[in-house]
Amino acid sequence: MLLALLCAAVCGCGRTIPTDGSLSVIPRPASIEATEGTFVLTPRTNIVLSMEQPGAEWVADAINRMVEPLFGRALAVRTTPASGAVTIRTDASLAAEAYRLEVRPDGIEIAAGAPAGAFYAVQTLRQLLPVEAFGASDIGRVELPCAVVADAPCMGYRGVMLDASRHFFTVDEVKQLLDIVAMHKINTFHWHLTDDQGWRIEIKAYPELTRVGSIRKRTLIGRDPGGEYDETCQYDETPYGGFYTQDEIRDVVAYAAERFITVIPEIEFPGHAVSALASYPWLSCTGEQYEVRQTWDIDDRVYCPGKETTFEFIEGVLAEVVELFPGEYVHIGGDECPMTYWKKCPHCKARMRSEGLTEWRQLQNYSTARLERFLNAHGKKLIGWDEILEGEVTPTATIMSWRGTEGGIRAAKQGNYAIMAPSEYCYFDHAQAVGEGEPLSWGARLPVDKVYSFDPYEGLTPEERHYILGMQANLWAEYIPNFDHLQYMLLPRLGALCETAWACDRKEWSDFRRRLDRMARLYDAYGYNYAKHLWAE
Ligand code: ACM
Ligand code: ZN
Repeated sequence: MLLALLCAAVCGCGRTIPTDGSLSVIPRPASIEATEGTFVLTPRTNIVLSMEQPGAEWVADAINRMVEPLFGRALAVRTTPASGAVTIRTDASLAAEAYRLEVRPDGIEIAAGAPAGAFYAVQTLRQLLPVEAFGASDIGRVELPCAVVADAPCMGYRGVMLDASRHFFTVDEVKQLLDIVAMHKINTFHWHLTDDQGWRIEIKAYPELTRVGSIRKRTLIGRDPGGEYDETCQYDETPYGGFYTQDEIRDVVAYAAERFITVIPEIEFPGHAVSALASYPWLSCTGEQYEVRQTWDIDDRVYCPGKETTFEFIEGVLAEVVELFPGEYVHIGGDECPMTYWKKCPHCKARMRSEGLTEWRQLQNYSTARLERFLNAHGKKLIGWDEILEGEVTPTATIMSWRGTEGGIRAAKQGNYAIMAPSEYCYFDHAQAVGEGEPLSWGARLPVDKVYSFDPYEGLTPEERHYILGMQANLWAEYIPNFDHLQYMLLPRLGALCETAWACDRKEWSDFRRRLDRMARLYDAYGYNYAKHLWAE
């Protein structure tokens, strides 16, 4: 066995995995046509990197990550032409994320506007390989069907959000998630790093945030059968926690970049703040000592925007955050912020007076605008949940629409950029089905066909559509206690969502459904946990 593997690795003389002729690709390419013949990939196939833009080497790395498990060795990478090679080159007539992929009997040609597009061509190649090749051993040759693919995404922002506060996911798990989302041609990872139930990012200036704020007293262990929400959940008394050091954050950001994924950090302000308030009691209106929350839902205890020290704090946090994340956006949350404490707080009342504010919601508008000025001064743009539209929002804030698409539509109509993530279609913490065998989740039901049916442009004129940057799946993790469960919530729904974001009006459910069967075999080959029994026949 070992000898056979060694032989296959060195001389490519192991067995041949024939093509299954399948051109089934998710998300659906703009055009994909079968041509005559097959290409034979072997351990001796070269990668010819004829692309000089920064990050081009990551495309070769992506091919090798895909192929190395098949052959037990990486393909040689060179810059000079070679026959029978996988050649990657720049085509300046194509957009950065667009690519043209040609599989011919005498070689594979990838042309793209930039390395990102070439990376997506590699993701398409993965789906043209025979599924049997993944997980097989003693492989010497793998056949691919000859084809010509021309492809480009319809939306520039294609995101997945992970809530690492309600449950913590290790760096290794986050990286596995990035591999899964990259395979679906997702280009943005929105990392929800702070919330009432745990502060998950190391901030050097404020060490209590992780020493105190990253740990809650109890651990969720399940829910009573038939129970709906918190009060029926079961907990044990084991403390629960975790956080990412700044080195780990840098590591994840670099890992994402190599997969052409930008990381957007979310630091919640002014609501969803109890873990911060538990760490530094002077951040709240009352200064009381709170505990990190152990149950879910909205909390009245929020930051006090009346005090200058609160802004010193949040700007101190953001000053470290902007250094860690090279992307253009920082998400400041802004959702679900009750004003109960503000209305009783002398500092908040004084702020209302000094700023000439007449409505309590304007205190949040004031805070958001102030954080936006800070972020802009550090070269970043602000994103907030659609609540930041209430009252008055600056024309430059980007809105993430979650309470339906109304926020996104309103933003687009008034000239604010928006990202669509309505809970009805994009909240992957919702159950995929109701009944036997379904794991813990929020009550609402979001099956894969409903995800697929979402039209992010509905209700918008062509001019207004310009303001919709893209869309996103949200993995809120109250009821996602581990990575295995997370995969189940994500797949295959991410397949449906990525096709809407990438292919827009090229969608067709019956065709997608057929391609999803093929994709599921790839999920199986990679050992991903997914909601198989709910749709596979
Ligand atoms: C949210 O789901 N509260 C943004
Ligand atoms: Zn206050």
